Amino acid sequence: MKSILEGRPALKREVDKVAEVAGYLWQNGWAERNGGNITINVTDCIDDEVRALPAISPVYPIGEALPHLKGQYFFCKGTGKRMRDLARWPMENGSVIRILDDCASYEIIADNPVAPTSELPSHLAVHDRQLELGSGYKATVHTHPIELVAMSHNRDFLGKDVLTRLLWSMIPETKAFCPLGLGIVPYELPGSNKLAQATLHELEDYDVVMWEKHGVFAKGQDVMDAFDQIDVLSKSAKIYLDARCMGFVPEGMTQAQMQEISDVFHLPK
Ligand code: 13P
Ligand code: ZN
Repeated sequence: MKSILEGRPALKREVDKVAEVAGYLWQNGWAERNGGNITINVTDCIDDEVRALPAISPVYPIGEALPHLKGQYFFCKGTGKRMRDLARWPMENGSVIRILDDCASYEIIADNPVAPTSELPSHLAVHDRQLELGSGYKATVHTHPIELVAMSHNRDFLGKDVLTRLLWSMIPETKAFCPLGLGIVPYELPGSNKLAQATLHELEDYDVVMWEKHGVFAKGQDVMDAFDQIDVLSKSAKIYLDARCMGFVPEGMTQAQMQEISDVFHLPK
């Protein structure tokens, strides 16, 4: 069977980046079993031949109407699929979906009828908002980074921007490369519309949000950008944890040092 990627270098490049990031998530220990999911908006890589492709699945409801998604195409990790498998065989562990004209349902068009991730409501709600904003963001990533999730089990860290300030203060790069910090989404059932709505709301002010006692969810210009932001936050969480394991509370950069970073890098906060 011919893959949709054949003869479409732009689409292949984006799917290859997803596979590369899936490998990083697995190597970092953030992707036990089927943990985590990635979706990317690939509409820019879609030509008339793809638009004419018939569905290879029934029509499925998204669970809500997302008005900006009409006719959009996404590559999505499959539900129950492993990141370590997505890294090696992306088209067997993910699929390309087309959003139908009602903006409330989708069908799978290639390469295999792999049902998309159970977190599709969150991913698609965020993509819908990015199109509305014209942000140019094309990727969303959900993963289970160990140290960040562990920190979400301490209520003291869950106040607004408490974790953001702590993580920024561990190493100058974190504020520079994750300038909006880490939003907090209180616990909701995985895969639920409530989780999607809470994620959407919190991502108005952040690029990365913590799903309390579960994982993180990031949006980015592309999948590498979304991964990088999670990676720098996770690095800070590890430094904090290492210091605590060595028996001391890390001093953290001073307010003045963090302000200097903001001034030099022209950061918003
Ligand atoms: P999926 O296998 O459906 O993508 O779910 C993994 C996950 O992490 C749910 O939060
Ligand atoms: Zn998860």
